[in-house]
Amino acid sequence: MNAHPHQSGERLAVVHNGIIENHEALRRELEAEGYAFTSETDTEVVAHLLERESRQAGDLLTAVQRVLARLDGAYALGVIHAGEPDVVIGARKGSPLVVGVGIGEAFLGSDPLALLQVTDRFIYLEEGDAVRLSAGGRIEVFDAEGAAVEREVQTFEHGDGAASKGDYRHFMLKEIHEQPAVIAAALEGRLGDRSALVESFGPEAEALFRQARQIHIVACGTSYHAGMVARYWLERYAGIPVQVEVASEYRYRQVVVPEGTLFVTLSQSGETADTLAALRFARTGGYLASLAICNVPGSSLVRESDLSLMTQAGPEIGVASTKAFTTQLTALMLLTLALGRVRGLDEAVQAEVVTALRGLPRLVERVLELDPAIEALSMAFVEKHHALFLGRGAHFPIALEGALKLKEISYIHAEAYPAGELKHGPLALVDSDMPVISVAPNDELLDKLKSNLQEVRARGGELFVFADEGWG
Ligand code: M6R
Repeated sequence: MNAHPHQSGERLAVVHNGIIENHEALRRELEAEGYAFTSETDTEVVAHLLERESRQAGDLLTAVQRVLARLDGAYALGVIHAGEPDVVIGARKGSPLVVGVGIGEAFLGSDPLALLQVTDRFIYLEEGDAVRLSAGGRIEVFDAEGAAVEREVQTFEHGDGAASKGDYRHFMLKEIHEQPAVIAAALEGRLGDRSALVESFGPEAEALFRQARQIHIVACGTSYHAGMVARYWLERYAGIPVQVEVASEYRYRQVVVPEGTLFVTLSQSGETADTLAALRFARTGGYLASLAICNVPGSSLVRESDLSLMTQAGPEIGVASTKAFTTQLTALMLLTLALGRVRGLDEAVQAEVVTALRGLPRLVERVLELDPAIEALSMAFVEKHHALFLGRGAHFPIALEGALKLKEISYIHAEAYPAGELKHGPLALVDSDMPVISVAPNDELLDKLKSNLQEVRARGGELFVFADEGWG
C-alpha cells in the first residue's frame, strides 16, 4: 500500500487506501471524547476509532470488525496493535487488498505486483472481507457478516521479470516498449482467418451479442478515452448506437436504459471505485448483460461481470497508462469485429480489419523506432507552460489522451479539443508560445483537419503533427 501509517497513541497503527466519507462526523465524536488529532486525514480517524474499540473488544479482529460497521466509503486497511504483536489485520471495501501467501509467512498489499518479489500466490479478498494474518503464515478470512470463509489461492501469471525495470530507465518507458508484444498477446487466439472469434468473450457472448441493440460504455481516465475511440468504431463497423460516460458521472445519474443494452466497463486495474460502483448499479438497472474489458484477472470488475475479455497487457507499474491503453483499443477493436460479425458486417471488411490487426504489432515497432526523433521534439516543450492537442473523429479522444499524458508526466497544462471546435473559442489562446499537437492520419477527415491547422499557423502557433508518410 502506498499510504502513510497513522497511529493512535503508542500501541496501534493503521495504513489505509481509499476515502472514509463520514470521517468528519466520526472526528467530532472522537474529539468530544478527548482524542487529539495531529492531522486532517480520514485515516487518523480510523486509527482513533480502532484504538477506542480495541480497549473494549477482546481482540484486534473484533475491534476492526466493529469499526468497519461504522465506516462509509471505500477502504483497504492494514492494522497492527502492540497487544497482539504477531497479528496483522486487513480489511477491504471498495479498494483492492490482496494477501500474499508465502511459506510460513503471509503478506498484505493493495496490488500483487508490490509483493511479487516475495510470492506469486495470492488471495484476492472480496468486498467486505477482513483477514487475520498470524505468526507462521496463518491466514484466516472472514466475510462481511463476520463468518470464517475459504478464499481461493491463485497463482499470479506474469511473475517473470514483471516487477523489474530491466534495462529501462523507468517503468513507463519499459511499458511503452512492451506494446508490440502485448498487443500481439491481446490478439492471440482471438482472430480467425477472416473474422474475430466471438467466443473469446465467453460462451454466452454470441447469444448476448445477437440481442444487443445498443451499448453503454463506462470507465475513468485513460480507459474512458479508449471507450470514446471505440464509439467511432462500433458505430461505423457494427452499426450499433453507443454512449460513453465517465463512471463518476454515470453512477449518480438517473440513467434511462433502453431494452437490449449491453453494459461495458473498461479498466486496467478492475478495481477503480467509480467504475465498480457503476457496474453494481448497472446490474440492477435492466441491462442485457455486463462485459468487463480489463487487464487484471480475478479483479472485482471481472468477477462481478457476466462476460469479460482480458487485455493481456501484463502488469502496469507506471502510473501513467500506455500499454494498458493500446491493448484496450486492441480489445475494443476485437469487440467491434465480434459485434460486427453477428450483426452482418460485410465479410470483406471483417477480413480487411483482421489483416490490419495482425500487422499492428509491427507498425507499433516502427513507431517506437522514432523514439530519438520524438525525444528531440520534446525539447521544444521544456520551457512551455501550456499545450493544445487537436484531433478529429476517433483521433479526438486520442488528443484527449495525449493531453492527459503530458499533464501527468510533465505537469504542463494541456487541453484537447476536437479540431473543428477551434474556431469556436480556443483559437484565441493560440500564439507562438502555445505548442499545438495533432494526430493527422491519412483518412477522410484529413483535409478538414489541415484547414483547422492552417488557422493555427495563421496565428503563429507552433505545430507538431503526427502524420502518415506523404503528409504535405
Ligand atoms: O484502472 P483503471 O483503468 O480503471 O483506472 C482509471 C484511471 O485512473 C486511469 O486510466 C488513469 O487515468 C491513467 N492511469 C492515467 O494515465
